[in-house]
Amino acid sequence: MNIKTTKILSSQKKEHIKLAAQMLAGGNLVAFPTETVYGLGANGYCEAAIAKIFKAKGRPNSNPLILHVNSLDQALDSFDFTQNFNEKLTQKRLFELAKHFWPGPLTIICHKKRHIPGIVTAGLPKVAVRIPDHKVAQEIITLANIPIAAPSANASCRPSPTLASHVLTTLNGKIDALVDGGACSFGLESTVLDISEARLKILRLGSIKTNEIEQILQEELECSINTGVEQEKLSPGMSRKHYAPKISNIILCDYLELQKAWLKPGAILLKKSSAELLEISFGKRPNSSVTEQLPNNAKDFAKELYAAFYRLEGKNISPLFIEKPSLDISDCSWAAVSDKLRRAAA
Ligand code: TXA
Ligand code: MG
Repeated sequence: MNIKTTKILSSQKKEHIKLAAQMLAGGNLVAFPTETVYGLGANGYCEAAIAKIFKAKGRPNSNPLILHVNSLDQALDSFDFTQNFNEKLTQKRLFELAKHFWPGPLTIICHKKRHIPGIVTAGLPKVAVRIPDHKVAQEIITLANIPIAAPSANASCRPSPTLASHVLTTLNGKIDALVDGGACSFGLESTVLDISEARLKILRLGSIKTNEIEQILQEELECSINTGVEQEKLSPGMSRKHYAPKISNIILCDYLELQKAWLKPGAILLKKSSAELLEISFGKRPNSSVTEQLPNNAKDFAKELYAAFYRLEGKNISPLFIEKPSLDISDCSWAAVSDKLRRAAA
């Protein structure tokens, strides 16, 4: 049920940015753009405001939130290194990672300081923090002068929003305001990394590739991303079904299955190069079908994926056949996209 009017603010207007920051500081829910996806912000120190995030999204309160800050000092103010297995090494990891990836799409998890409210971390002893690389997000955080707790600005389990209109698709009337800042440049969530244990652990694949992190830290990562129960314990947001468009039947296809799907009605989402190949071999698709062609390289494919999901669900068509990216183990560019597609089809 819609309970309030969601105020639409423009990132081009200084007074709107100021208002968004004031609203956040005052305990309201405000969605804003980041370089990855739109976030649904609340005052990171205010339990009542954070509780509203869970309600608006329909998010289980066992699923912790990322704190968005605008400086390394603010991040340091959230972490308690004395709780980590090796205080010095953890600090060294953080500084190295911050130097290379912040501001940017890397979320870092460490033990939290006491003053971070338990509702942010869903009662877990560790907190997730990142500095977004987006002018509007940074201005809002600076003006509000508090860390902003923000999950992706979508109803729970739906695809993350990469345009302001996507936020309204699932949250209109449930949040106080939305700052429209156009399209997000990555279009894929941040990579989530726990640096607090002896082995570095990737909890969510995202915009930063795992091999980039390994290169910077000269350490091997543990990356047990799967859709199992173990994963959900480590990072409660990584449930089996996630990032899914509202389409009743979603099927991941290898190339042979895709050939069959090409000649059926329904929707297909695939790489442009695959569509061209299929059209040469099998001709045009049936009249009533829908074909979404995404760029051939992983980065641009990821950037456009969620927008394609929202377009497809708007067309009310089922089934949706999705081309499964072939995974070259030595190249992890497609790993995050593959993971999202697998969860969308789960
Ligand atoms: O790119 C992003 O990360 C976006 C933008 C808005 O920053 N945010 C985002 O938040 O995707 P959300 O809540 O949709 O996803 C955060 C993920 C979830 O899978 C959550 O379980 C995990 O991070 N997470 C957060 N805090 C954690 C913690 N303390 N321990 C383990 N996992 C945590
Ligand atoms: Mg999310």
